[in-house]
Amino acid sequence: MAIALVDGIVVEFDERENLNGIQLARRAGVEIPHYCWHPGLSVVASCRMCLVEIGFRNAVTGEVRLLPKLVAACNTPAQDGLVLVTQSAKVQQARAMVQEDLLLRHPVDCPICDKAGECLLQDYYYRYGHRQRRAPWGPFTSRRKDIGEKITLFVDRCIMCSRCVRFTREISGTAELMIVDRGNHQEIDIFPGFPINNKLSGNVVDLCPVGALGDKEFLYKQRVWYLTSHPSVCVQCATGCSIWVDENQDRIWRLRPRENPFVNKWWMCNDGRYAYPYVHSPQRLVGARRKAPDGWCDLDWSSLVEELRQFLEQKERLAAVVSPFLTVEEAYLLCRAIRQVDPRAPLVLGDVPQVGEDERFPGGFAIAREKCPNRRGVEEVIAHFIGRVPPVEELPELVRRHGAQAVWLSGEYPQGWAKLEWLPALAELGVALIVHDLFPSALCDRAEFVVGAPAFAEKAGSYVNRHDRLQSVPAAIRPPKGVFPAGRLLWRLLGQEGTYEPASVLQEVARNISYFRAALGTIPPVGVDLKVNLLAVAENGTVNDLGTESLMIG
Ligand code: FES
Repeated sequence: MAIALVDGIVVEFDERENLNGIQLARRAGVEIPHYCWHPGLSVVASCRMCLVEIGFRNAVTGEVRLLPKLVAACNTPAQDGLVLVTQSAKVQQARAMVQEDLLLRHPVDCPICDKAGECLLQDYYYRYGHRQRRAPWGPFTSRRKDIGEKITLFVDRCIMCSRCVRFTREISGTAELMIVDRGNHQEIDIFPGFPINNKLSGNVVDLCPVGALGDKEFLYKQRVWYLTSHPSVCVQCATGCSIWVDENQDRIWRLRPRENPFVNKWWMCNDGRYAYPYVHSPQRLVGARRKAPDGWCDLDWSSLVEELRQFLEQKERLAAVVSPFLTVEEAYLLCRAIRQVDPRAPLVLGDVPQVGEDERFPGGFAIAREKCPNRRGVEEVIAHFIGRVPPVEELPELVRRHGAQAVWLSGEYPQGWAKLEWLPALAELGVALIVHDLFPSALCDRAEFVVGAPAFAEKAGSYVNRHDRLQSVPAAIRPPKGVFPAGRLLWRLLGQEGTYEPASVLQEVARNISYFRAALGTIPPVGVDLKVNLLAVAENGTVNDLGTESLMIG
């Protein structure tokens, strides 16, 4: 182990980790301000905000020698005996001068800037800037450039950190952005005729430390201090990116990537980022209803549970379609509820939507062709109950062979059911359908019960991505009035006491299904390779992903 000193605090580290000064200081709990450095991008050391004093400590005598000049911490490799001084008068003066220089050319238009409230220039000004502006105010143009379908550029807000340029070269590999001109005239631009429309383009807005790059979908919609961020998982493909759901009063305003070194690093794709409006669609199924001789009869929460229970018990022979959009806990409770009434009931995996091929980017990010979040989790649950995992196409044949009289259909597809070729064959068998879904479909016309289902952000639970990574997340918003979260509904249907707690259901799942045993924090059997992401909620409410290396059993 190597040892360094950061403001007198001893930090132990492994030199093979290739830390820089900023990362080393973080280990000591010291934050060094920075603009251009980002852990996912190459180092350019251009903004000079991270200037610190460095020196070396003689291991024998203990004597420390500081270099006469300040150096950029982002560009300083951590090494044994390194000494960092981050709070001296010399460092503070350098930071204030960098701030002052940046603000010479930056409009103070915070009242109309989308970034206000999460802008590093604002934050660092209060922490490190000169209290008084010494230069006269110059005119600002507030020039705006339309550089992409989703992205707009406020030219004179840019501080030339070049994070966005490096992102398009190193991560998306599309290189649409560049810096044109020199000196004071520098500005970000696109190559003529090549707007930034790549599938990862939304990330440049997250990367921008100031308000230069704006997201057209979010622009002027909300002030960020009205938003509450909740950890969640993107359900648009089997990559299962860790995300933040930013909401205000149960309305989602934006999705952002949440750092997860094992899944998506710092990024997410536009398909996931801009897919949330379906959550607030007026077309959604809300409430529950049962077919009556003269139309539909609305059911409230308590009568729904009772009627469903009686209905299932009358039918005796059942089957279920378990959607890959259900959480592990919901899938387990659904299988249990159906098999409690009919211990031989067939269970099939719902349609797994697939589009094209996996899309891979030079930075390592990948968009999966499989457009659902939890096929792996649901497969393991079904396999536990019936030994194999039949696809939904086998449903009519399984229903016919088993003589099932009722089928529970869980959907929750954000774009609706892609394929229903099996429906006419099922309809011919005359089985009753219980449809628990997000949107109306041809299934509802033939259903005995239609029950509104929650969208991803409205329910807590766990998803397993295509690389066997399990992530458990809380609900971000409340569902619309009359929508019954599947977990709560099934919990009641099973006659369980108390409130539905996904965490305790997951513990039960892990006790019964060896694949999920890592979720208990114990070593799973050889050959089982589920990996678990734990969310640590700090006392101040911040949530950190703890990639639990000890649970990464290969
Ligand atoms: Fe080090 Fe910009 S963060 S110079």
